Amino acid sequence: MKYPPVHYHKYLGLDALLNSQHPKSVEYKKPAHDEMLFIVVHQTYELWFKQIIFELDAVLKTFQKDQIEETEMGMASSRLERIVSILKLIIGQVDVLETMTPLDFLDFRDMLYPASGFQSFQWRLIETKLGLRIGDRLAYNQAPFFKSLTEEQQNEIQSVLNSSSLFDSLEKWLARTPFLQDENFNFWDTYKNAVTTMFNEDIATVNNNTRLSDEDKKRNIEGLTNTLRSFDALFDESAFEKLRGEGQFRLSYKAMHAALLIQLYRDQPILQTPFRIIRALLDIDETMTTWRYRHALMAMRMLGQKIGTGGSSGHKYLAEATAKHKIFGDFFNLTTFFIPRSQVPPLPKSMSDRMSFHY
Ligand code: HEM
Repeated sequence: MKYPPVHYHKYLGLDALLNSQHPKSVEYKKPAHDEMLFIVVHQTYELWFKQIIFELDAVLKTFQKDQIEETEMGMASSRLERIVSILKLIIGQVDVLETMTPLDFLDFRDMLYPASGFQSFQWRLIETKLGLRIGDRLAYNQAPFFKSLTEEQQNEIQSVLNSSSLFDSLEKWLARTPFLQDENFNFWDTYKNAVTTMFNEDIATVNNNTRLSDEDKKRNIEGLTNTLRSFDALFDESAFEKLRGEGQFRLSYKAMHAALLIQLYRDQPILQTPFRIIRALLDIDETMTTWRYRHALMAMRMLGQKIGTGGSSGHKYLAEATAKHKIFGDFFNLTTFFIPRSQVPPLPKSMSDRMSFHY
């Protein structure tokens, strides 16, 4: 044998793992059966958080480079997709914890003050590494979120806050996308024409619709004109920057354009992996929101209007955080600017050649 033998139990560190459940209700000699489930479910979450951070760190290592190796892109997108699978799995774990009824929970809840998931360092690492900034967060007890952590953890969060998050690195990578222009093709001019054509056709369709009253026509055309105006910001950098300053967009002008190009021309061989990466980030935002929502509902079901053990308003805080704590919202908003595939301008051969693989 090339390597010394390994034993299952030792290899997995099961002594430590399986001896790490210490119900408070047992310590206080008022054993509450469901506290074991409560502990195991939380521990399982923390193990999955550990795996998410492990994947995220590997992806960050790739994306934080000034020049990203093409060979690492497929792996980065697979790791992001793995994070999505884990998040989907842990949303389902809420079902298991909800087999505990609120009355079962009340048997030991009082023994847990002031511990709370709010102190989950790993969850904060995930959010921060992905790109959730202090300013994006809901105010909680008039103190920054990391004040609930230990001093050592606070220092680590500070250093993560000071380094480039996945959002930051991704934005820089998008802004470097080289395919927006060549001597035969300016994506933005072409796209603008396609959008205007699409809207003019829509307006003509409304005008020619004999079943609509003049009033309905007026209202529909007003709606279309307003949507067309929202496109303007994408065609005009200073209008875009103004809206970005107001918090309507987070990505830079260039990065937003690149993301749109990747979405619209995702079938081009060279854009397929970037498209998978954007889709995985959308999925991460969506699954994290879904987890927050499920968790908020679970808190509502367990606590009603009671406050949380960590001192928040309970369900209200969690529901508001669900609505606010978004990271890749731009990718969702980008859909407003999609046009039907049939109207996407065809690429000139010089450009499509650059986006293909040649053997
Ligand atoms: C009986 C089940 C649960 C209830 C009633 C509950 C309740 C709460 C409440 C009320 C908060 C807000 C902070 C506070 O005032 O304490 C909170 C935060 C949190 N909980 Fe839970 N929780 C439960 C299970 C879980 C589980 C299984 C996890 C998995 C790790 C978890 C993770 C978190 C996290 C990460 C936060 C911070 C959320 C944020 O600030 O965005 N909770 N929980």
